[in-house]
Amino acid sequence: MLEIKNVHKSFDAHTEILKGIDLKINKGDVIAILGPSGSGKTTLLRCINYLERADSGTMIFDGEEYDMHAISKSSITRIRKKTAFVFQNYNLFLNKTVLQNVTLGLTSGRKMSRSDAKDAAMDALKRVGMADRIDAFPHQLSGGQQQRVAIARGLAANPEIIYFDEPTSALDPELIGEVLNVMRHLAEEGMTMLVVTHEMGFARNVSNYVLFMDDGKVIEQAPSKEFFSNPREERTRSFISSILKKGES
Ligand SMILES: Nc1ncnc2c1ncn2[C@@H]1O[C@H](COP(=O)(O)OP(=O)(O)OP(=O)(O)O)[C@@H](O)[C@H]1O
Ligand SMILES: [Mg+2]
Repeated sequence: MLEIKNVHKSFDAHTEILKGIDLKINKGDVIAILGPSGSGKTTLLRCINYLERADSGTMIFDGEEYDMHAISKSSITRIRKKTAFVFQNYNLFLNKTVLQNVTLGLTSGRKMSRSDAKDAAMDALKRVGMADRIDAFPHQLSGGQQQRVAIARGLAANPEIIYFDEPTSALDPELIGEVLNVMRHLAEEGMTMLVVTHEMGFARNVSNYVLFMDDGKVIEQAPSKEFFSNPREERTRSFISSILKKGES
């Protein structure tokens, strides 16, 4: 469904942040991207969704091939209509209600009628368990609830794939579970997801495939069970054990 090949990205002439990333995603895949801070995970997601322009690379999306550097605005718009992005800090409009946050992109970006947008929004909000809070403003919600609204906003547009960048890392520990549960449900429903996360439980139990990045490169990739039970690379092993230690302390 989505494939990227040999993606490179620098922000200045001296340091390359992405050093040739390849990634293949099939429909229904839930791929976890792990890696230490600064390894380029966010940059990769941002390049995949053209929030950042790669220096070079090829994308194949739904059978169409794109040069990720030279891609046209109209192609980006077309690709974005099939994708959604969930940020670490929710990125909700603070002066808009839950319902308005979810319908806004549908009525303005996708030119849906108000009533169709409301139906799609309500359906998405039900799926994340937030349909009873449609008139609330973000400041009246917990971080976990805000993130579920942000997920609903992505879902409402009926994307083929959702990208998540550390969706639970801004949350208090007791709120992480409700967001992971929503993501687990989406995975069970067959949603295709690419998730940057430090949640080892999610990576191990929900995602079907894990990709470990360090220093702008993919160091190791494998089906989740294999990745955790039998990591091949020393760097992967030390990363897994450092994260697990952090979780215990
Ligand atoms: N807009 C930017 N301009 C300059 N350098 C940047 C920019 N965005 C990211 N970088 C640099 O690129 C490197 C990778 O950053 P990135 O945010 O992709 O890492 P990450 O793996 O997501 O880290 P974290 O786990 O902390 O979120 C870092 O050294 C960062 O300083
Ligand atoms: Mg990041």
